Amino acid sequence: MNRIANLVDFCSSNELKDLCRAAGQAALTAGNIIRELYAKPHTIKMKGDIDLVTEADIAAETAMVASLNEDTPGITIMAEESFSGQADTQKGKLWVIDPLDGTTNFAHGIPLFAVSIALLENEQPKLGVIYCPMQDELFCASLGGGAWLNGKPIKVTDTDFLLQSLVATGFPYDIHKHLSRIVGQIKTVLPKVRDIRRCGAAAVDLAYVSCGRLDAFWELDLKPWDTAAGCLLVEEAGGRVSDFLGQKFSPFKTEILASNRRLHPHLLELIS
Ligand code: IPD
Ligand code: CA
Ligand code: CA
Repeated sequence: MNRIANLVDFCSSNELKDLCRAAGQAALTAGNIIRELYAKPHTIKMKGDIDLVTEADIAAETAMVASLNEDTPGITIMAEESFSGQADTQKGKLWVIDPLDGTTNFAHGIPLFAVSIALLENEQPKLGVIYCPMQDELFCASLGGGAWLNGKPIKVTDTDFLLQSLVATGFPYDIHKHLSRIVGQIKTVLPKVRDIRRCGAAAVDLAYVSCGRLDAFWELDLKPWDTAAGCLLVEEAGGRVSDFLGQKFSPFKTEILASNRRLHPHLLELIS
């Protein structure tokens, strides 16, 4: 837990410090479970035509919910695998959890996936933690408290030119609904940048923008648990996050463009 000590120091209240420790603990607990299950045979169920859920998604979520209920009793939890479709997000505090972001990578033995947890207050992210268990990388941020990777401060790149930028995108599960729009965006962006990555985990994409491995990330049709922690990380690392029209982002919006800030207007023009 030393890795979140710096973030805890920058939290504006004792309550936020406790919430920060609770989020870090829940993320590490889930990450350890996922790492142990990674090398074993998986139980895979289909949620849709291509959308999977594995034993690791369920085990990680169960452990996170138990950990948060014990450490922060009374705070509502919105967790991907047990979400009923309804939540009163407008009032008070809310934990938003993706127990395993990048399930397809996990199921295919590609070691790039993460646990993502955010604390929202009246729909605004106050805390965000993303843990990549196979790399043992813990990213965390609090509103006004900066962004950190394994206890060290991180910031976005200062790339000014699209041709020098490495950007990423993702493809939603209902790709068929959005195919022409997505192909159109790739056709427009690809000739203008150094390259495009499709890492397979939106939370990792956002964490990588925050620490300068990527210059920008965009995707449409995402859920609150995909973006709630990552959008705060990017902003606290000096980046900009918006929807495709350049309007203020909220985890309850489905379209996200996150960038190093400098490239934002250029990318908005290309993808909007
Ligand atoms: C998915 C991943 C993927 C993105 C999808 C998400 P999951 O989340 O973040 O990169 O393209 O839109 O749904 O299902 O692995 O938690
Ligand atoms: Ca996800
Ligand atoms: Ca997930």
